[in-house]
Amino acid sequence: MAAEFGISELWDPTVRRDPHGFYDRVRNNGGPVLQIDPTGARFWVIAGHADVLDGLHHPAIGHEVHRHWPGSRQPAPHELSEVARIEARQLISLDPPDHTRLRGLVSSGFTARAVARLEPWIADLADRLVARARRQGHVDGVADLADPVPVNVIAELVGVPESDRSRFRAWSAAIVSGSVDGPAATLEFGAYLDDLAARRRAAPTDDLMTQLVALEEQGDRLDRDELVALVQLLLVAGQETTVDLIVNGIRLLLTHPEQWQAVRDDPTLAAAVVEETLRFRGPVEIVPPRFAFRDVEIAGGRIPAFDRVGLSLWGANRDPAVFDRPHVFDIHRPDVRKHIAFGHGIHFCLGAHLARLESRIMFERIARNLPDLRLAVDPAELEGFRLHQDGLPLRVGPR
Ligand code: HEM
Repeated sequence: MAAEFGISELWDPTVRRDPHGFYDRVRNNGGPVLQIDPTGARFWVIAGHADVLDGLHHPAIGHEVHRHWPGSRQPAPHELSEVARIEARQLISLDPPDHTRLRGLVSSGFTARAVARLEPWIADLADRLVARARRQGHVDGVADLADPVPVNVIAELVGVPESDRSRFRAWSAAIVSGSVDGPAATLEFGAYLDDLAARRRAAPTDDLMTQLVALEEQGDRLDRDELVALVQLLLVAGQETTVDLIVNGIRLLLTHPEQWQAVRDDPTLAAAVVEETLRFRGPVEIVPPRFAFRDVEIAGGRIPAFDRVGLSLWGANRDPAVFDRPHVFDIHRPDVRKHIAFGHGIHFCLGAHLARLESRIMFERIARNLPDLRLAVDPAELEGFRLHQDGLPLRVGPR
């Protein structure tokens, strides 16, 4: 018999505290589950591993729904404000063919080889953060360990000089938080990137900005708004997600003492910590919502044309058809790489190699150099913590 669902259950505070029971029921439902999202729109949830993969690869499920609406037309660029133009050019919300073209242009900057050149720089940053934590004794896992990593790494990747880093971090914070300052920050950030682009045109180096201006100059392959949109997306997609991964990895290790001991004994297990944290508690619960472009048969049911589709990575990564004892955190599981915490298909996370590198280095350095790291609160108290707002209170040094 099909399970019963509240119509907005996904946003219910009890489900928010622990959505996994909800996704278990969705997976067993025998069809996508209809929810009404906070904007009042119809939102179909899918939570099985194979079904989520189907959704991510489905040709009639995507973002640019206006292209499929009979009689609709896309606004011309001059009809949009600069902020709206930049938002309309985000890689993550485009479908083929625009997505294919843009992604093809930028993907070479994010391969495993391309990001490996940042390893010594990231290791040095990690060493400094860890050394500072040791001196402080009282440490906030978010503010002191996780938060400084991705924004500085993205600045380094793009080629933002040291002297501009504090401005870069301030724009990044305003854009990422989606605060009222976001649109102003987008404009200032755009102007700053124009200036940086001009400097790189005059004197090329080996950074991403130099690569991007080279593309821009080869005739209209990557235009100015696309360049700004891309760098902004790197911040939006790469900051909070990576912070979330690092801080949850630390939390999960410290609340699983045997596994924490295993990693201290063998810090090369850091890579396994990254993968199991991604599977067990990945940073992205549901991929950015898509639309059905026509009636779509999927996951044993049907989604009507133009409704929203919610593909749950948390649901997929706890599917017992793929993972043994899925609700157990276990860094030794052999099949962990079947997780899809970075998505799958054409939008597969562009920053996956970078995020893996940053978090692996952090876990390794913490295991080697902060072996006495421990929680400064009772684990039970952590249940109610929203890590991004409340932080993760930690201690190092003598008890
Ligand atoms: C896309 C997760 C870090 C840049 C995605 C998607 C997921 C994801 C699930 C696919 C979205 C979709 O299908 O709609 C994560 C996680 C991260 C992380 C879990 C950290 C642990 C990063 C970093 C960067 C980045 C560090 C860049 C510096 C992007 C970009 C896309 C993307 C540009 C869009 C790709 C496209 O549409 O083709 N990410 N991400 N991400 N991510 Fe990440």
